Amino acid sequence: MEFNVSSGHPEKQKTACCVVGIFEKRKLSLAARRLDEVCQGSLSNFLQGGDLTGKEGQCALLYNLPHLSCERVLLVGCGLEKAFKENTFRKAIQTAVQKLMANNIKEATFTLPELVVKDRLTDWKLSYAVQVICDTLYTFDSLKTKKNNSSRLKRMTLMVRGRQELSLASKAIQKGQAIAQGVALAKTLGNMPANLCTPTYLGEEAQKLCRDHPHMRCTILNEPDIQKLKMGAFLSVTKGSHEPPKLITVEYGTDKKDQPPIVLVGKGITFDSGGISLKPDEGMDEMKFDMCGAASVLGAILAAKTLNLPLKIIGIIPTCENLPGGSASRPGDIVTSFSGQTIEILNTDAEGRLILCDALSYSAQFKPDVVIDIATLTGACVVALGKHASGLFSNSEPLAKELVSAGKCRGDRAWQLPLWEDYSTQLDSNFADLANVGGREAGAITAACFLSRFTQKLKWAHLDIAGTAWLRGKEKGATGRPVPLLVAYLLNRCKKEE
Ligand code: BES
Ligand code: MN
Ligand code: ZN
Repeated sequence: MEFNVSSGHPEKQKTACCVVGIFEKRKLSLAARRLDEVCQGSLSNFLQGGDLTGKEGQCALLYNLPHLSCERVLLVGCGLEKAFKENTFRKAIQTAVQKLMANNIKEATFTLPELVVKDRLTDWKLSYAVQVICDTLYTFDSLKTKKNNSSRLKRMTLMVRGRQELSLASKAIQKGQAIAQGVALAKTLGNMPANLCTPTYLGEEAQKLCRDHPHMRCTILNEPDIQKLKMGAFLSVTKGSHEPPKLITVEYGTDKKDQPPIVLVGKGITFDSGGISLKPDEGMDEMKFDMCGAASVLGAILAAKTLNLPLKIIGIIPTCENLPGGSASRPGDIVTSFSGQTIEILNTDAEGRLILCDALSYSAQFKPDVVIDIATLTGACVVALGKHASGLFSNSEPLAKELVSAGKCRGDRAWQLPLWEDYSTQLDSNFADLANVGGREAGAITAACFLSRFTQKLKWAHLDIAGTAWLRGKEKGATGRPVPLLVAYLLNRCKKEE
């Protein structure tokens, strides 16, 4: 996809399609007004007809308008002008791109970045528009024999208000493209089925990411190494599977020796059957997405690499399958974690926290500045927040705030839930230091509390992405979240995001 920026007049753009916004109550945006003047009121005439009132999600494609240099005009509903915010900006772009694809249009000019978005500057509008456009264009058809290559948009021109805004445009476009590239990697890894996307495969992808980069390094530990480290919690999860587990470490910025790293830990369960505490059959295929945390770590590091961020980042990915079998862990088994704490496995389906607790303890050796884990951890989080926000937990208020605002900035929101001590007693065990489940109440919180027992000496945050990492139903597929949030956070750490 090729992006250009222009500050000319929309009516003079030689393009297959000029995309302009219409606000509710048929109010023309600035660009729409200009086109309307030149084509002698054709747009207002059309709007008089009542086909489009400017509501979110509406759009209409008009042909053969007089005196315009463009072949078509696409009107896009933008909702109430006063309420035009990040979310409506995104929806307008998505609607437009979907319409362009459906009509097989290969090239277009977008005037939407000219619109005023509350509290957002041009840099944001351009980079976010690029992120959303690329994200909407994503397809996963590598495993279909018939490819759907009909309707690819090839070139897009983004309009800005003045010439002075052109100078920052190319940086903004790069930023948007880098985020989209990270999102696409996370989506593709998530969408791959578990028979192909195995722990070994994730290891190969991590190695590929580091290949040919002077300041990146990938280390992969195999089962015997993990045994030597005495990661009893991690090992208890892989026992029922024939696929070998891996502990993957990806380092970015190896030249920055004295900088305390930002550590990202991603849950990499390539398939979660529940183990002996077997899941019900309905929707079990979706448990191939249980490695989306791991995928988001690789996606975020890919974006950091593309943007050449002056940071030290370490990705840690514990990855294995959770399957039942003759050698699988049983409910009631007690294991010793890497930290030394003993854990009673009351439910083998609460496996994410078992692989994460060892990886989190392991992260301490890197003397991190912060540690953020990302995991499709609990169904309870889906019940609490649905698909709109990831659950956020942290033992540092400033870190939590930074992550919330990073997510808000990139249409990838997180919502903080409490990590109060009060919940922690739910994890008491009669036989071990703690149990791996805490009963029906507040499941997302007790899972986070479990992790917090292993991060006491760290500045740490936990993102539960069980509701946000993939879409269900007709649109089933990985979303690439929370790559945008993570990259925005990384950019903020080097003061490159507003
Ligand atoms: N991977 C699941 C969490 C999950 C479930 C994500 C449904 C998305 C949709 C996790 O390993 C799990 O099974 N969690 C259990 C924990 C319970 C046994 C305490 C859950 O949420 O049911
Ligand atoms: Mn599970
Ligand atoms: Zn799981």
